[in-house]
Amino acid sequence: MCGIIGYCGPKPAVDVILEGLKRLEYRGYDSAGLCVGHQGRLQLVKKTGKIADLRREVPEVLPGQWGIGHTRWATHGEVNDLNAHPHLDAASRIAVVHNGIIENHSALKEKLIGQGVSFRSETDSEVIVHLIASYYDGDLERAVKQALSLLRGTYGVLVMHTDQPDLIVGARNGSPLVLGIGEDEVFLASDVTAIMGHTKQVVYLEDGEVAVITPEGYRTTDLRDNVITKQIDVVSWELEEIEKGSFAHFMQKEIFEQPESILRAMQGRIEFENATAHLGGLNLDRQELLNIERVKIVASGTSYHAGMVGAYLLEQLARIPCTAELSSELRYRNPIVERNTLYFVVSQSGETADTLYAMRELQRKGAKVLGICNVVGATIPRESDGGVYTHSGPEIAVASTKAFTSQLTVLYLFSLFMARMRHMSFEEGLALVQAMDGVPALLQQVLSRADSIQELAEKYSYARSFLFLGRGINYPVALEGALKLKEVSYIHAEGYSAAEIKHGPIALVNEETPSLFLVPNDPLRDKVLSNMKEIKARKGPVIAIAVEGDREVAGIADDVFFVPNASPIVYPFLLMVPMQLLSYYMALILGHNVDQPRNLAKSVTVE
Ligand code: F6R
Repeated sequence: MCGIIGYCGPKPAVDVILEGLKRLEYRGYDSAGLCVGHQGRLQLVKKTGKIADLRREVPEVLPGQWGIGHTRWATHGEVNDLNAHPHLDAASRIAVVHNGIIENHSALKEKLIGQGVSFRSETDSEVIVHLIASYYDGDLERAVKQALSLLRGTYGVLVMHTDQPDLIVGARNGSPLVLGIGEDEVFLASDVTAIMGHTKQVVYLEDGEVAVITPEGYRTTDLRDNVITKQIDVVSWELEEIEKGSFAHFMQKEIFEQPESILRAMQGRIEFENATAHLGGLNLDRQELLNIERVKIVASGTSYHAGMVGAYLLEQLARIPCTAELSSELRYRNPIVERNTLYFVVSQSGETADTLYAMRELQRKGAKVLGICNVVGATIPRESDGGVYTHSGPEIAVASTKAFTSQLTVLYLFSLFMARMRHMSFEEGLALVQAMDGVPALLQQVLSRADSIQELAEKYSYARSFLFLGRGINYPVALEGALKLKEVSYIHAEGYSAAEIKHGPIALVNEETPSLFLVPNDPLRDKVLSNMKEIKARKGPVIAIAVEGDREVAGIADDVFFVPNASPIVYPFLLMVPMQLLSYYMALILGHNVDQPRNLAKSVTVE
């Protein structure tokens, strides 16, 4: 959600902070602000809108080499300049930026008001700065620790004080915080992308840890002052990966990157000679793997849709009962952890609060939980009992695209691996390995015909409502198609099993509501064709994504986009990408900001 950055070093802090905030903008873009310390004064600038709006407010000269910044995704309090961070204490000597939610802020606020403190904003975060001020007696670190010990909720927080120049105190509990070590400069940020332009040496802070940074170095402790020695990691991402390059938008870049990101997710993990896959980080010995009787996949949003495909694969290929469940629901229904059940949490960011808390709930009840994550060093991969990285590279566009197909890739590999340990023959395994191996090249063919999808988007951009329909393994793919369209184009879209429309949703069908059907050449194709005819009989426009050469589909649908012929098991990849492109072009035609859709933010670190 919100993004935060702090800097102590020789460079003008305002430049470092603005650059970091720009890179963090995908975490929230309601309002932004920064505070730079100079000659015993805090200089505060904050503004509703994007980082570009903030930049316009910043004076041409804003001296100072130490400061903090924030980009907001509003939780408490409407979007306005006053509610933007940083927040200052009454004397304007302390500044705070906060990512997270303080659950007991009302009680704390009431108490502070009773002590004569007046509040300027409606945010929960402002209590933090006043609490710190109430404890401050010359030692900022101590005052921060005393204040934090009273908070209930989540925080990634950065604090500075006029009396302690070139020093920032940062702490985390439930919201990510990473420390970057440069030459004579140290950074704190919610996300490595904010500081990657300056350093690749990072330290990931854990919940309950506090870092004090100065240009000379850093110190990490817990809230009780026990010193904690941290490991320094090196970020493997390259700077160009977090830049748009020749693409107009990150979403476009990430859609077109998929042949490569899928390849990366497979690299070194396929064994042609044994017709299987191996995944290094599972942390399960052979007997434990053989003992698995059930798999449960837990995730949110797009990752949940990938999990639903995974459930289908595990059942069909490995014959292991498997279900996918929404993290937010699982956590609060007192889940029963069964023996010999393996849990996977799937999360691109590795920080999604719903998924993280569901994982902790399962672990508390004795479950072994593995992660399928993209961001190395994020909280889920660090706290899980093992797992697999998807290696998709940074996903910056808020609407997830390449993360989905990389998650699928890992789930295919895991299913293949489990299947080959059980009932799957060498020949069947080899056919799957070959089908997987062919996916990147087939996707390249799909992408080379993006222009036809753009034409479809133009033709159907009049629609205010859409249905996305698929069956079997492609049912969750239809759900994901609908999610993509609503996220970036704001067109109402519903995903359903094609078989299910006659049980209700068909009432929505009219001349202005297009239905997009996924029609691979699998055993359910003929039934899907009947469903298409049912829509046509009711004058509903029909778009199909079908397989090259399927004339019958072309005879029924108003428009068809053909994908190359492939093994039916890999159609989720081939059918997904045209729908991602359709959403992208539709959003452009309708004039929306595709990379930063309204009301959304990447990495949802609040429940
Ligand atoms: C949709 C999207 C979200 C995320 C969801 C989970 O385009 O991006 O639905 O998939 O918030 O995020 P992760 O995968 O980071 O846990």
